[in-house]
Amino acid sequence: QGTMQINDKGHLEIGGCDTVELAETFGTPLYVLDEQHFRQNCRNYYRAFIEKYDGVVLYAAKTLLTLAVCRMVAEEGLSLDVVSGGELYTAKKARFPMERVYFHGNNKSAAELQLALEYNVGRIMVDNPHELQMLNRLAGEAGVRAKIMLRLTPGVEAHTHEYIKTGQIDSKFGMVIENGQAMEIIKQALALDNVQLTGLHCHIGSQIFELQSYTHAAEVMLGFAAEVYRETGWQPGEMNFGGGMGIYYTEADKPQPVSKYADMLVQAVQNLAQSHGLAVPRVLVEPGRSISGPAGTTLYTVGAVKNIPGIRKYVAVDGGMGDNPRPALYQSRYEAILANRAAEKPGETVSIAGKCCESGDMLIWDIELPAPVPGDILAVSSTGAYNYSMSMNYNRLPRPAMVLVRDGAADIIVARETYEDLIRNDVVPERLGGGRV
Ligand code: LLP
Repeated sequence: QGTMQINDKGHLEIGGCDTVELAETFGTPLYVLDEQHFRQNCRNYYRAFIEKYDGVVLYAAKTLLTLAVCRMVAEEGLSLDVVSGGELYTAKKARFPMERVYFHGNNKSAAELQLALEYNVGRIMVDNPHELQMLNRLAGEAGVRAKIMLRLTPGVEAHTHEYIKTGQIDSKFGMVIENGQAMEIIKQALALDNVQLTGLHCHIGSQIFELQSYTHAAEVMLGFAAEVYRETGWQPGEMNFGGGMGIYYTEADKPQPVSKYADMLVQAVQNLAQSHGLAVPRVLVEPGRSISGPAGTTLYTVGAVKNIPGIRKYVAVDGGMGDNPRPALYQSRYEAILANRAAEKPGETVSIAGKCCESGDMLIWDIELPAPVPGDILAVSSTGAYNYSMSMNYNRLPRPAMVLVRDGAADIIVARETYEDLIRNDVVPERLGGGRV
């Protein structure tokens, strides 16, 4: 699906652009986003859920959001899941249609909720009773009736890394079904004047390959909806099953086709609704990683190569946990090739080190590559999701630029940070000599 290939110079090419030339022109580290691949991933969801089942697909902004990304998502007909005032503001500035923006978060501030009301977002995904009451008050003050969905914890555990499991009962997200708290918040919401409850939400985890996890979640959620209907007479017009579809990082990962995911989930919802005597709700999903992840590649320049005979060869690159904290945070694994020697056979096992002052800053342990030398360009794949969006300035490393590539054209969509940017918000008090620098 991507537009990656090896060109006649033996260089990795993405979107018709020679990545070695990209590295020369824009510098490294460099995030490269393959426009066609990103759009293709959006279209797979569009066809599978929207066209076929009249569903709603919310692209999870937390995986990768910039103004240009907002434009592409809007053009592809998807909606947007945002989780902060900052993401909301970005969507607004990109002129994303606000009725297609859904606002998530387990601890939204009053100011964030006010902004969401002012922008008139499509839905506010309420997480807890404190937020429900606050939103009801703020909506009343603003003279509007906010459309909301409630986030529930269905107790479904998806098989994935511990830190990214959010469906179990012991979770900071949502209200637990089993202990009655979910029923309680629904009753509260139904009794309030300034909110209108349209449906229910759950998210069972991320980087999931077991489609059964979703049908299991559907069973729990529809079973609960039937109970709610019996007790209150209300039934959800829409059910949101969150995101989570896994992508390929290494050969251990076996992604499932989006169409299969859609068919399994939507048909399960339809059957369950019918068997419980409920109207069939509209199905919403919130894919993030499976749209942005595979469309991104990061280019680095190899610097020091340090061999510890009989132990390990460390190949250091000019980025690392600052631009991709995932290996350090989750022990995530990635694949890479030498972009300038893409046709060469691997010759040795090396480990890729980042440049942060931290032993844990290792991008890839034990990877087979043609013996890397200083100046080689390393291309790490599947870095589109949770890389730029989780990047940081540890060690005062400026964040990389991002280019959008397509049909041989490369456009900057995020400028490289400068040293000037790094001190922009620093202030020196008078007693230390004063003033801005
Ligand atoms: N919806 C909700 C409510 C979520 O919490 C998430 C992800 C998504 C949708 C999107 O899930 P996706 O399709 O991308 O799996 N930083 C971690 C992942 C954290 C996931 C947080 N929630 C990582 O880098 O693996």
